[in-house]
Amino acid sequence: MKGIVVYDTSYGNTRKIAETIADTLKESGIEVDLFDVKNVKKLSGKDYDFFVLGSPTKFGTMSFTIKFFLGKVKSEEWLNKPFAAFDTENPENVEKSRIENKEWSAAEKIAEKLREKKMNQLLPVLKTLVLGQKGPLVEGEVDRTKDYARQLAAKLK
Ligand SMILES: Cc1cc2nc3c(=O)[nH]c(=O)nc-3n(C[C@H](O)[C@H](O)[C@H](O)COP(=O)(O)O)c2cc1C
Repeated sequence: MKGIVVYDTSYGNTRKIAETIADTLKESGIEVDLFDVKNVKKLSGKDYDFFVLGSPTKFGTMSFTIKFFLGKVKSEEWLNKPFAAFDTENPENVEKSRIENKEWSAAEKIAEKLREKKMNQLLPVLKTLVLGQKGPLVEGEVDRTKDYARQLAAKLK
């Protein structure tokens, strides 16, 4: 079992969440490659059993870099493979989504795209909270991420 965790980040918060997911999966005995999206040279679904993708929420959706990257993910290589999606966003964003009954989350948009590629969503998305644009992450979010990654590991095994 080998997976890849890919993330985008401007201020390091989404990287911290991605690292926490990768480290927790490794602690559960799962092999993981971790990449900043800017460093992914070539991605082949043939090399991996599952995919975890995360983005900061920008203007209610994924970053442009992640959107571009997703466009290069070949559905035939990833067909039926498990995935999970995560994001960082502001607490007000969660409230806005609730009031408007519309998703303004990067993770939800990523999950939608990967489902369209006929991948298999293992868990509901993980939305983690940051304060303002630069963060920091809200207290408790790293521990919540560890719990999420443990659930992911259990599903993968
Ligand atoms: C141009 C821009 C647009 C943003 N738009 C949103 C938004 O629509 N909703 C939201 O919750 N946060 C928004 N944010 C805050 C980002 O979510 C926050 O900067 C990001 O989660 C931090 O992650 P990073 O440290 O990995 O870059 C925006 C930030 C920037 C810079």
